[in-house]
Amino acid sequence: MSAEPPYVVFGPNGKGPGVGKDTWENLLAVPEFTVSLVCEEDGPAMNASSQAFPAGVSEFEACGIARLPGHLVKPPRVASAKAALECRVYQSVALPRLADGRENRVVIGEVVGIYIADEVIHDGRVDERLLQPLTRLGYMNYGTLGTVFELNRPG
Ligand SMILES: Cc1cc2nc3c(=O)[nH]c(=O)nc-3n(C[C@H](O)[C@H](O)[C@H](O)COP(=O)(O)O)c2cc1C
Repeated sequence: MSAEPPYVVFGPNGKGPGVGKDTWENLLAVPEFTVSLVCEEDGPAMNASSQAFPAGVSEFEACGIARLPGHLVKPPRVASAKAALECRVYQSVALPRLADGRENRVVIGEVVGIYIADEVIHDGRVDERLLQPLTRLGYMNYGTLGTVFELNRPG
């Protein structure tokens, strides 16, 4: 969202009445996070990391995912990710509570750092074909990059 500076938005859901998923509870302790782009080869690791581990368990360790330290924020990023964002929480919005007391949230993060692997930059631009991003579709479906084409905006 926006551009100078850029912002990114994600939605950590509630875990139980008055308790958010670990990602939200972690943000209360350290209001910083990283976003690692999932490429085709990292799909299985991404999916494994969505298991409901206890709060004290690191998904990096439990799923054998290598990490690298953040440059500008405390949380690490996924070492194999070809692109990642380093973010500081700008604001969060609590959505109306569910009937069971859970509170889902929307978190807006200011992007303070952007990492892009040199290997996916071609002629000064990110080449999506080199990135090979995994795309999330509906249900449990995912896709890989199909044809890439340019569509210039009118006016
Ligand atoms: C593709 C994908 C998308 C997901 N999107 C969300 C989401 O938007 N919000 C959410 O709370 N959980 C989402 N999840 C589920 C979380 O990954 C899962 O609940 C995880 O255990 C939360 O970890 P935490 O408790 O360490 O924060 C998603 C999982 C997958 C595989």
